[in-house]
Amino acid sequence: MRSKIVAGNWKMNKTLEQTETLLAELSAKLPDTDAEVMVSPTYVNLTGAVRSLESSKIEVIAQNMHFAESGAYTGEISAEMLLNIGVDTAIIGHSERRAYFGETDEILAKKVVAALAKGIRVMFCFGEELEDRQSGKHFKLVESQLRNALFSLDASAWSKIILAYEPVWAIGTGETASPEQAQEMHAFIRKTIGEAYNTALANGVSILYGGSVKPANAEEIFSKPDVDGGLIGGASLVADDFVAIIKAI
Ligand code: 13P
Repeated sequence: MRSKIVAGNWKMNKTLEQTETLLAELSAKLPDTDAEVMVSPTYVNLTGAVRSLESSKIEVIAQNMHFAESGAYTGEISAEMLLNIGVDTAIIGHSERRAYFGETDEILAKKVVAALAKGIRVMFCFGEELEDRQSGKHFKLVESQLRNALFSLDASAWSKIILAYEPVWAIGTGETASPEQAQEMHAFIRKTIGEAYNTALANGVSILYGGSVKPANAEEIFSKPDVDGGLIGGASLVADDFVAIIKAI
């Protein structure tokens, strides 16, 4: 059965001291849950976070990684470096990476292959822009994002894939997809994977929703049958809010 997951995408937030404070608060307040709970501090604080959470069930994940093994890629981080510090999951394809750092489907496909080859679990993000939804192209767009980056993978690789559907128009805007819109898209994603592979595989993939998830709306979104949890931005930076969202699952 697929796992329930609540993950915090901290983006470019929190200094070392602030990271330690937030992690200590989260560890102290973490509710008893069957869900996987993940946080993703910025790169410079990953090692410290792994150490701080050694005896906690909270997992530390990375916000990004490069596809090359090593070499002349100034500013980048490899799969091996992540594994070496005890991080075995990476977010790949976040819309901010696509929009501000030119990450195309082709680059993302290479990152996914590189991550999986090293045994890194991939949290793959995708989702449509507002104009895609307004012009009714959101299903086609999402399908092409999945196809271009993931559908060349062997079926066996999917045990290490987590999906995060994040409509760009709902990220950091306070505007959330309605629970019905989230369910409709998640069901479409699962059907599309089922057609590309098979229904059993599709039913085993965790599909998270991301985009202005808050304590006030988390429970309703998470109650939808094809929503397996959330990738949380702003609200994951405040311990009480993130804890409330974890409780909602
Ligand atoms: P917000 O929750 O701040 O809208 O961010 C969502 C997101 O981008 C998570 O990756």
